[in-house]
Amino acid sequence: MITVSAPGKLMLFGEHAVVYGYPSIVTAVGQRMRATVELLDAPEFIVDAQDVDITSYKKKMTELGIGEIPKGVQFVEMALVNFSKKYPIMHGVYVKTASEFSSQFGFGSSSASTVCVIQACAALMGVNLSNKEFFDLSYQTVLDIQKTGSGFDVAAALYGGTLEFVKAGTLMEPLLLKEMPLIIGYTGVKADTTSLILDVKKKYENEPEKVKRIFEAITKIVTDAKQKMLEGDWERVGTLMNFNQEYLRDLGISTEKLEAMIAAAKHAGAWGAKLSGAGGGDCMIALAPPDKRKAVTDAITQVGGQVMDVPVNAEGVKVEKF
Ligand code: PMV
Repeated sequence: MITVSAPGKLMLFGEHAVVYGYPSIVTAVGQRMRATVELLDAPEFIVDAQDVDITSYKKKMTELGIGEIPKGVQFVEMALVNFSKKYPIMHGVYVKTASEFSSQFGFGSSSASTVCVIQACAALMGVNLSNKEFFDLSYQTVLDIQKTGSGFDVAAALYGGTLEFVKAGTLMEPLLLKEMPLIIGYTGVKADTTSLILDVKKKYENEPEKVKRIFEAITKIVTDAKQKMLEGDWERVGTLMNFNQEYLRDLGISTEKLEAMIAAAKHAGAWGAKLSGAGGGDCMIALAPPDKRKAVTDAITQVGGQVMDVPVNAEGVKVEKF
């Protein structure tokens, strides 16, 4: 039996553009998904995932990936399908997952559980996965289910920390940061990432030149932000967040609630603020000087946001008990 945990993620810069091959910056959040995995003698696949109301989901190992799979089991099951294609599993498998965060926040519980299950199976079976193989198996699993996405959530779950990331893991460069004065505000609205990616795709098809110009401008912001983050110039990073937000607004993915929370944060003294991720809801982020932190937190709360007290730059996947 093994217990593995992996962090959630937050996009700091470059969302949507990253789906088209442009760079982004992502950080891992210190709320973790945990999976306990056991190899069984009987050739059965059994899952308990209380957070998503799954108790004793059971099927034969020969039926893995076949038939209707409940939403709460999809990532765990497809992770096993992909892993066993390369490394046949001659046992049954029991998986129990538990999340420190609600899947509502958009912190990436799906990719974190995918990464946990692959790490657990590899360790239990004595398989030594290279980082690239580990990323590819996990990303394939996410694509099998979601059909789209850059894979930044997989990179955050796997490596942790803060990374410059390019689609499909063609670049995953850690940014070594000592601190990051980030404030995270949840809108209370669960966003549908896939449909927002499709909205941007439509916009790209209708106005390719305009959207390409937006993505190029975002790329310049990502490059500058990376440099300024490494220098610890958070005031400038905040200003770059504001620039990035303007382009995200132009893409049509911001909402009134996000805008209200962003405006409130800036008004209360934040250096900058933007939405984080697909838009349409989920979270916004702000950077603020230490003496303005409380005022910014209060301002976000006053307009109906929920400030999440979670550390960022968190550790990547790790074996907790073996
Ligand atoms: O909604 P989130 O936090 O999963 O972020 C989506 C970010 C996108 O760039 C829109 C999609 C992606 O896979 O990179």
